[in-house]
Amino acid sequence: MYDLIIKNGYVVSPSSTVQCDVAVQGRMIAGLGHYEETEGRRVIDASGKYVLPGVIEAHMHCMAPFQGALGANSFYEQSISAAFGGVTMYMDFANMGKGDSPYKQALARADEMKESAIDYSVHGKFVESTPEAIADIEKMAESGIPTFKMFMTYKKEGVMSDDETMLKVFEKAKQVNGLPMVHCESNGIAEINIEKCEAKQDFSWVNFAKCKPVLCEAEAFARAVYFAEYVGNALLVVHTTNGEALNTARRAHGKGLPIYVETGPHYLTLFDDLYQGENGHLAICSPPLRTPKEAQELWEGLQDGTILLTGSDDCTFDVDEKSMFLEKNPDGTWKQDFRKVVNGMSGIEIRLPLLLSEGVSKGRISINKVCELTSTNIAKIYGCYPQKGIIAPGSDADLVLVDMEKEVTLSKDVLHNNISYCLHEGFKVKGYPVMTISKGKVIVENGEFKGKQGDGEFIKRKIHPVYLERYGLN
Ligand code: URP
Ligand code: ZN
Ligand code: ZN
Repeated sequence: MYDLIIKNGYVVSPSSTVQCDVAVQGRMIAGLGHYEETEGRRVIDASGKYVLPGVIEAHMHCMAPFQGALGANSFYEQSISAAFGGVTMYMDFANMGKGDSPYKQALARADEMKESAIDYSVHGKFVESTPEAIADIEKMAESGIPTFKMFMTYKKEGVMSDDETMLKVFEKAKQVNGLPMVHCESNGIAEINIEKCEAKQDFSWVNFAKCKPVLCEAEAFARAVYFAEYVGNALLVVHTTNGEALNTARRAHGKGLPIYVETGPHYLTLFDDLYQGENGHLAICSPPLRTPKEAQELWEGLQDGTILLTGSDDCTFDVDEKSMFLEKNPDGTWKQDFRKVVNGMSGIEIRLPLLLSEGVSKGRISINKVCELTSTNIAKIYGCYPQKGIIAPGSDADLVLVDMEKEVTLSKDVLHNNISYCLHEGFKVKGYPVMTISKGKVIVENGEFKGKQGDGEFIKRKIHPVYLERYGLN
């Protein structure tokens, strides 16, 4: 007798969509095939639905002090919102300041995440390369934390890694089968542009995007790729927004270099016209939103395999936090000053729906590609495959049932986070997660959350060396 049988769904993997049943025993998938209803303690009829491996969110910032803000969701609340978006595991970053131990900060972060209802992990973060900090890399890798994040900007915030830090982290990461992750924006280009805004005293939302143009990102992207090539290690570039950067990645891939590129659904679906609105500050994120041209370049990057990963870069800041340092004009409008607005936007719950709708329903990518981009590839490159990221015997029974006919108008009222706005307000999607199963337990069903605080576990990760030696996750 199995604990659960999911009957008749279209079971999706990167390479196939097969109509069959999934049998679950305890926390694991026991088998795929055809089972009698009498063989299951509970049977879920998934006829007409797609069954995908649970979404993995490897890029979010929850309860992470940044630019004076913290975020509106606790980790438990974040796990609820995530689960409604089909997410069954998430990863966040250690909070780091100069003088902190990256290892201790990573462990402390994992401790904070214990209240999560879904499984979790943490990335190390580097802001300097003291011998002590670099020595922590080995300890982190041994503790199941083989990913190390660096920012090439945010110097004023005290979290930028300089070139030497990047090179030293890259070198050490290589020795322990680790993977550096980099936020690519040239601090220099951004800063000289901000100085020009200072000269004109014009800090409008629109100017935020102008201070960080495509080349601001592309220069840093190319520098990071050259550093990785020089050191001979793998690299993951987060939240890539444009074809200029993708062309650098393509050149690297042509040489077989393991340069992995992530983009986020906001860069595929939202554009810089939002900065023209009075509430454009709510859309301030780094890199900034671009134009439909760059979004099209990203779709092409997803289609041709230049981009193998997606992440929401979720930062659930409510209006009060986005506006906390701003003043108003006498007519009640915002005195626009992008320097005073925390960077980041919410998105963990809508990453899967946006990819299903704008990707699969609109014929741009297959549902198998969505499976790779939201789960399988992420599990592989971040080192938790095949425990996560695939529907196969022995893997965790982390599953999301998707109804490709379900139409939803996105709105703050349909989402489950703690904020009072939605940048996709009124955006219609076709294709939506309708049930989420975490380690064999149904945690979202009929629009209700059924998970439990603290049911999430820390997942130790180890990256297969083959992915770090040459480009590709097959
Ligand atoms: O604007 C963003 N993305 N804020 C969060 C921090 C980061 O850069 O990822
Ligand atoms: Zn970033
Ligand atoms: Zn981020």
